[in-house]
Amino acid sequence: MREMIQLIRGFKDILPGEAELWQHIEKTAVALFEAYGFSEIRLPLLEKSELFARSIGEDTDIVEKEMYTFPDRKGDLVTLRPEATASIVRSYIQHKLYAQDPVQKFYTIGPMFRRERPQKGRYRQFYQINAEVLGVDSALIDAQLIFMLVTLFSRLAVKDVEVHLNSLGCPSCRPEFKAALSGFLSGLKEKLCADCVRRSGRNPLRVLDCKVPSCRDAMAGAPSLLDFLCTDCSTHFQTVQDALGGLHVPFTINSRLVRGLDYYTRTTFEIQTRSQGAQNAIAGGGRYDGLIRLLGGPDTPAIGFAIGFDRLVETAGLNRSDFIKKPDVFVAALGEKSTRSAFDWSCALGLAGITVEMDPGGKSLKSLMKRADRLGAAYVAIIGENELDKGEVLLRNMATKEQNALPLAGIAERIAAIVRAGTMRP
Ligand code: HAM
Repeated sequence: MREMIQLIRGFKDILPGEAELWQHIEKTAVALFEAYGFSEIRLPLLEKSELFARSIGEDTDIVEKEMYTFPDRKGDLVTLRPEATASIVRSYIQHKLYAQDPVQKFYTIGPMFRRERPQKGRYRQFYQINAEVLGVDSALIDAQLIFMLVTLFSRLAVKDVEVHLNSLGCPSCRPEFKAALSGFLSGLKEKLCADCVRRSGRNPLRVLDCKVPSCRDAMAGAPSLLDFLCTDCSTHFQTVQDALGGLHVPFTINSRLVRGLDYYTRTTFEIQTRSQGAQNAIAGGGRYDGLIRLLGGPDTPAIGFAIGFDRLVETAGLNRSDFIKKPDVFVAALGEKSTRSAFDWSCALGLAGITVEMDPGGKSLKSLMKRADRLGAAYVAIIGENELDKGEVLLRNMATKEQNALPLAGIAERIAAIVRAGTMRP
């Protein structure tokens, strides 16, 4: 045998049996988003590298270390998207969607790519469920997005969900905080990792996000952004909290929550669950009021979130076996002539919307019945040469073991009616 080719490290296959769970989660999310007026947007996986460098920020781990970037054949640098927000904003600006309606609400679901060190809950191709609202400044929408997340997780039986909330201020109050943080950092240089030393001058907020334990310890006494918020940001943040209280969504204020992307302003949040171990954020998001302008669009506020779909699948309290699709009818045909007859009406059954499985491989009745049982078929339709001669099909209800002979003429319609009625006789 020749050497087998394996998939790439950090990438994974979602096999049948698991894919049904993904489909269920996706349907639950889409139903919720559509109830709140979100429409689907589908975007390319490949974008110009500059889009991510400008929006996520040059000093972030994602842009510095994790992007799959390569020159295309003409030498232009392109990147497999590490996240979706930048592409959503690019599309919004490029198609002037703001001219159709100043408020746009999108959701998008699909793969993202980051070259991180793979481990449980962390992949190099992972999937996100994103929702974004562009054109709304009100803090009520911030609370609504968090409410949607919490609702979704509750519908999917995710346990131990915690909402972590912070405000990162705005261009009028953040500079003062940055200056205070830089002052604090200047005394710590020898305690910080090389990345933090390099970033502390230009982008000190990134140091707050560093995962290296010694940096975390060194930052214990760092100033808190919440002490520097201007009146507008403070009022905005208070409204988010009041609205969450009104919606009965518990939350924890976490002044260290700066998130790993540079575009955030004001409200930022993460949904964490203890069951995920180190990779405990199953969703994250926040406001990016300056991003649309930064990417060449009109001055427009915006906010959104992304759920880590892989992590959601791993934490959802759902039973995989509840979602595996079982055939309504398993057709067991014995002999060449009966197989031809059964083939025709089993195709007709599929057309009628009945889930049908037929194995035309000339197996014995015993092995066909075994397979029908393994697949969990509700009914088995049996036709051998004997039944064909008599113009009959035997239909067996696998739950009650009741078995009846039905006329072959019009058999597809008859079986379809029985399956739909859930009884043996129509
Ligand atoms: P993010 O925090 O980078 O935010 O990613 C959001 C979620 O994606 C994380 O909380 C995590 O569940 C999941 N995730 C991230 N990296 C990986 C990975 N390597 N493997 C598995 N799951 C992962 C964003 O991407 C922002 N675009 C969110 C946003 C939308 N902000 C505003 N709008």
